[in-house]
Amino acid sequence: MIVNFDKYIDNRHANLSKFEGLKSLYGASQDNCISMWVADMDFNPPQAVITALQKEVSHGVFGYYGTNKSFLNSVKMWMKSRHDWDISEEWCSVVHGVNTGIGMGLRAFSEPGDEILLFSPIYYSFFNTIKNNGRVPKEIPLKKVKDQYEVDFNELEKRLSGKEKIIIFCSPHNPGGKIWSKETLVTLAEFSKENNILIFMDEIHHDLTYPDKAHTTFLKAAPGAEEISLIFTAATKTFNIAGCHTGTTIIPNPKLRSKYDQEHAAIGKTPNRFGMIMTEAAYRKGAEWLHQLMHYLENNKNIFTTSLRSLNNVKVFDLESTYLVWVDFSNLKITQAEMENMLIKEAGVAPSLGTGFGKNSGKFARFNIACRTEILDLAIGRLTKTFL
Ligand SMILES: Cc1ncc(COP(=O)(O)O)c(C=O)c1O
Repeated sequence: MIVNFDKYIDNRHANLSKFEGLKSLYGASQDNCISMWVADMDFNPPQAVITALQKEVSHGVFGYYGTNKSFLNSVKMWMKSRHDWDISEEWCSVVHGVNTGIGMGLRAFSEPGDEILLFSPIYYSFFNTIKNNGRVPKEIPLKKVKDQYEVDFNELEKRLSGKEKIIIFCSPHNPGGKIWSKETLVTLAEFSKENNILIFMDEIHHDLTYPDKAHTTFLKAAPGAEEISLIFTAATKTFNIAGCHTGTTIIPNPKLRSKYDQEHAAIGKTPNRFGMIMTEAAYRKGAEWLHQLMHYLENNKNIFTTSLRSLNNVKVFDLESTYLVWVDFSNLKITQAEMENMLIKEAGVAPSLGTGFGKNSGKFARFNIACRTEILDLAIGRLTKTFL
């Protein structure tokens, strides 16, 4: 079946953070601003997800969810079929999303005051989760090479204080959209082992690779890293079901897993029935939808990247994965406040502003291109008029 990603869906009254946030975060509204910030897509998920929920609703009994068995089997099946990655069901811990899973991991494996390493720019919520748990984010800037980032291992070595307990690493990278190379991941694993630092590998975007690209699964690239790693995954970005708040933390090392499970038990959370059902349906029946999605997004990516690159002094990162385009406005002779004003007030386009992604990102912005191409064209027209 051909999926129609151009279908108009009236999302104005769906209580979506993507649109509600326009007012609270940008002082704008849907009438005068195109929302391109939070990482939600404008599309329906695979029909199988909707059908599974409809079946649940017609049954009409919503008690606590029983066994995870079938769910975990679907996770294992997906990791094998999509990533050729063999995992065991017993490595998996079902959590209420990746951010929750990372928060639990911080509490299980570090103490207040410990330093948590991040390579910035990086997904803004990590900073909040670290700070809200009384830990200290320590940023190591990524270095720019051509139109992408690389990890600066020299800088990392130089900056070590001995107080670092955990690295949170984002693979593929949000906001840059980079698929990290095997070499980078192996070096990272070696560094962590040598320095006795755990790796929290956030692979939530691993399915969202463009047709000619493939994700580098950390534990396949760096054998032995399972001793020191927790892997965070979810179907929520892939299939646009973020509101169902369900993810899987994969922990092969039994000692680490038992400590993590203790923290999980301390919080007292049990599975979310709806999230489990939606995720399982997506993993079991969503592969063809995803295939078509990435082709649709590739067209959006090409249009958006080419158009913005034609603007004077605006630099666009090469997108290999994710539907989030990282744009550098720092070569324009304007202040950060002017840049933000031009985007939101003049152009009427609200990307995620760079400032949340780390210290050196004030004059950057991240644009979500997972919308109908018609809307994307509208946004490009407005940006071109403002920044040409
Ligand atoms: C890298 C990354 N990790 C985690 C999340 C959030 O995941 P969850 O909704 O499962 O907490 C996002 C959301 O955009 C993300 O980009």
